[in-house]
Amino acid sequence: MVRETRLSPAHFIYPLFVLPGSGIKQPIPSMPGISRFSVDRVVDEARSAFDLGVPGVILFGLPDSKDEEGSGAWKDQGTVQNAVRAIKKALPNMVVMTDVCLCQYTSHGHCGHLARTQGGRMDVDNDATLELLGKTAVSHAKAGADVVAPSDMMDGRVGFIRESLDEAALDHVAILSYAAKYASGFYGPFRDAAESAPQEGDRKTYQMDPGNAREAMREMSLDIAEGADMIMVKPALAYLDIIRAASEEFDHPLCAYQVSGEYSMVMAAAEKGWLDGPRVMMETLTAIKRAGADTIITYYAKEACRALARGDG
Ligand code: PBG
Repeated sequence: MVRETRLSPAHFIYPLFVLPGSGIKQPIPSMPGISRFSVDRVVDEARSAFDLGVPGVILFGLPDSKDEEGSGAWKDQGTVQNAVRAIKKALPNMVVMTDVCLCQYTSHGHCGHLARTQGGRMDVDNDATLELLGKTAVSHAKAGADVVAPSDMMDGRVGFIRESLDEAALDHVAILSYAAKYASGFYGPFRDAAESAPQEGDRKTYQMDPGNAREAMREMSLDIAEGADMIMVKPALAYLDIIRAASEEFDHPLCAYQVSGEYSMVMAAAEKGWLDGPRVMMETLTAIKRAGADTIITYYAKEACRALARGDG
């Protein structure tokens, strides 16, 4: 009766991995219970989440082939584009979000265009990447995405994507910005799932230092100024202080991403019998909500809905 924080299916967003081909449901070994689906099968998975009360999905695509530029990202008949069309057709009231990034599509696995710096080092070229992200966001939006979610962490990409969408008469499409995205070890299982681990180097030149909190506030205000409709903190559990600070500082809808490593860590311990998996699932989701998140992207979306339906808090 006096509980302050309650979870509801209405606040969950379910991530889905989409593969080329048809009839495929391929379990991801490092994420027990989570699979990669071909376009035809991903519709059924989205429907099962929607039927449990989950209002939205976020899609991650795997291309047929990768190249230096990541050109698979903006193909009209790409996996994500086709999945968006299929899900919107089957479930018009489901909110379809897409992850906008290049790392699944580039042969080197980085989130942007690689170029040699004046110092002779290979690094992501921020401004050359904006163009590619803009094209990618437009192609997702043209396919029918309701929300595009840039996760690349290039500077200025929210503004660039906003302009690209508006110029393409896609001004109704919203932007969920991965605004405070940390360079985190918790993305490990995702990089297996999306085959997006960098071949060389790491993402520390564009993702955030886990030691920084004020910088997260600056990243979020910049993205809001550039036109973000919603902002995100990622990962969630190790960054509850950032979620809390953001919820106090900004009025924009605040999303937290409970990432792959947060999920797999609990699943692995539960498999060993070291902790009570369903209980820790609800405890972590409640903590993320209590810290101030409005919405939560979680691989537990369906499981948590089932737990709520059973009356487990
Ligand atoms: C793409 C992207 C990543 C995640 C979401 N979008 C991986 C990364 O930045 O390495 C991670 C999600 C997860 O771990 O569940 N840039």
